[in-house]
Amino acid sequence: MNTQPERMPETDLRALVSILRRRGRMIAATMGAVLGLTLLLLLFLTPKYTATALLLVDPTQKDLLSAEAAVQPGGSADNARVESEIEIARSVAVARATARAAGLALDPEFGPGPGAGDRLRALFGLAAEVPQGEAALDVARRKLREATRIERRGLTHVFAVSVTSKSPERAAELANTLARTYIDLQVAAKVGAVEKARDLLLGQLESARTRLAASDDGVDGYIRRNLQALASEAGNPRLIGLQEDLQRLNAVRTGLSEQVGQGGAELERELARTDAAIASTRGALREAVLSSDLPSARLAEMFELQQEAEIAQRQYTNLLARLRDLDAQVLVQVADSRIVSEALPPDVASSPRYKLILSMALVFSLGAGVGVALIREFYIGGILSGRQLETVVPVSRAVSVPFVKMRRDQTCLADGIVEAPLSHFSESFRHLRTTLDRLAPPEETGRGRVVLIASAVAGEGKSTTALALARTYAQLGRSVALIDADLRKPSLHECLGVMPDHGFLEYLRDPEAEGSAEGFYLRDPLSAAGVLVGRGRADVPTDQLLMSRQFQLLLDSARDAVDVILIDTSPLNAVVDAQFIAPFADAAVLCVRFADTSQTDLRLAHARLRETLRPEVPIVAALTRDISGASGYDESGYYA
Ligand SMILES: Nc1ncnc2c1ncn2[C@@H]1O[C@H](COP(=O)(O)OP(=O)(O)OP(=O)(O)O)[C@@H](O)[C@H]1O
Ligand SMILES: [Mg+2]
Repeated sequence: MNTQPERMPETDLRALVSILRRRGRMIAATMGAVLGLTLLLLLFLTPKYTATALLLVDPTQKDLLSAEAAVQPGGSADNARVESEIEIARSVAVARATARAAGLALDPEFGPGPGAGDRLRALFGLAAEVPQGEAALDVARRKLREATRIERRGLTHVFAVSVTSKSPERAAELANTLARTYIDLQVAAKVGAVEKARDLLLGQLESARTRLAASDDGVDGYIRRNLQALASEAGNPRLIGLQEDLQRLNAVRTGLSEQVGQGGAELERELARTDAAIASTRGALREAVLSSDLPSARLAEMFELQQEAEIAQRQYTNLLARLRDLDAQVLVQVADSRIVSEALPPDVASSPRYKLILSMALVFSLGAGVGVALIREFYIGGILSGRQLETVVPVSRAVSVPFVKMRRDQTCLADGIVEAPLSHFSESFRHLRTTLDRLAPPEETGRGRVVLIASAVAGEGKSTTALALARTYAQLGRSVALIDADLRKPSLHECLGVMPDHGFLEYLRDPEAEGSAEGFYLRDPLSAAGVLVGRGRADVPTDQLLMSRQFQLLLDSARDAVDVILIDTSPLNAVVDAQFIAPFADAAVLCVRFADTSQTDLRLAHARLRETLRPEVPIVAALTRDISGASGYDESGYYA
């Protein structure tokens, strides 16, 4: 149970800063690795260049043949026009025509050269199939479209055609080719539209011509058919004469036209003269009929026929004029867009963007470094401070025990408690003792308290801590019993420099020895503490022994005899022994080796301990071999 008060935000900030400082090297290493990798990647990236041509879309409707001012649509129509032109410039047709015009099918960069897969296949002797002809053009067109960007500049009429290539010259050339191709296709499309309109008109003109001939025949035929009646009704005999002239001329013309095939310029001239004479005679005949004094019914009939002929004539003339107009327009079509700025080969590569990538890598590496440091601090790595320890497992308190070097003449580091009582090392154990006394105060009955000394894995300083704590208690005048219950690998006897005849293990195994502790019960030569030592490694499962009645009896009598019973145990994660003793404990010390015990091990050990201890029993963590210099009182009252 964590009983510490809630932390203030600035304390958390300080804790974060101290974590970052502590993990500084790891952060720097991560940053170095990320930046190094980025640099390496940048070295292998081929620089690419982007060249841009600018085009202006002129949304006015131009007609060079018209003297009137060009029509400016304006507003949204204007906008739509520019957008349409951009879409056309982006079209597959333009890309394909550009790829064809620039010969990209054979280009090493844009052409269908062998890819990575093909090269791999070639290594195994499998010939790669490289597309040819139209298929190659398709590949080039696809690559060109991927390398092309066409974008409007804001809300202007200008749009930019940018092409990216490994070569700056090639990039500029392709951007210009694409711009020109787009304009050429635009003109061709316009010409095509005019030509289509002209073809349509040609058809209409043909039918108008037929209609005109028929209506002409209508008037002349009417006069021919009704000549006698007309002449008598009008009282104009000249009509008959004109009609006869006309018939004679027609006969002459028929004769001439038969001879024309045999050649002769004179004959042709004669034919033309006859045609002219026929036309003027016909005109004169019509004129004479219409100017004659005919009855109104006859005149109306005539007039109607005449009107029809005139309408047909007008239609025909109109269509002919429009056709000539379109013929002229085909030749004078101009594009609605024009290049206002040709692309030039760029001096600087557009990709990779070294500065941007490096600054992003810097930010990312810093984030990654801090992330790794925090993950290591809170999830994976070893424990580097009491505060960190308290965040990883909910212990009641954490106490740091500084790292000390063993002198040659020492058998055990715990000797320092007696030899140098004012050292940091000794102070840290006094600190641990006070903490234990505060969290698990002596019972009013005066019976001794049992303190379990445990750890997650081997070599975390249990035995050193147990002996040092026993001596610290003894210095205070308390009666202490220290039991080496690490039956698998007892070590306290080595610390004390003795080798008993039989150890604690033998005592537990031999029921006859009940109550007796001779041989393995020693008095610590450096303090008043009594120690129950072991002798050698166990060759039998030891957990049953710790559950035995002997053990319970021993603990019971020890509680009556002394103030504090310290029990050194086997590692929690390795064997179950400590979990059998835990239910008897009034307090537990969990030894954690500085920067070494993994957080996973620590969590597992804590969970095992917690589930076997009585709920109210506190766990105090001892961060052993601390080299950070933050042992106890150094961190102003934090562990107090
Ligand atoms: N504060 C310390 N400073 C330097 N070395 C230490 C400290 N505490 C313990 N050690 C050393 O760490 C090693 C392991 O200590 P110790 O035997 O006390 O651990 P243990 O948990 O009892 O090990 P085991 O699980 O093997 O019984 C010993 O060599 C000991 O001298
Ligand atoms: Mg030990």
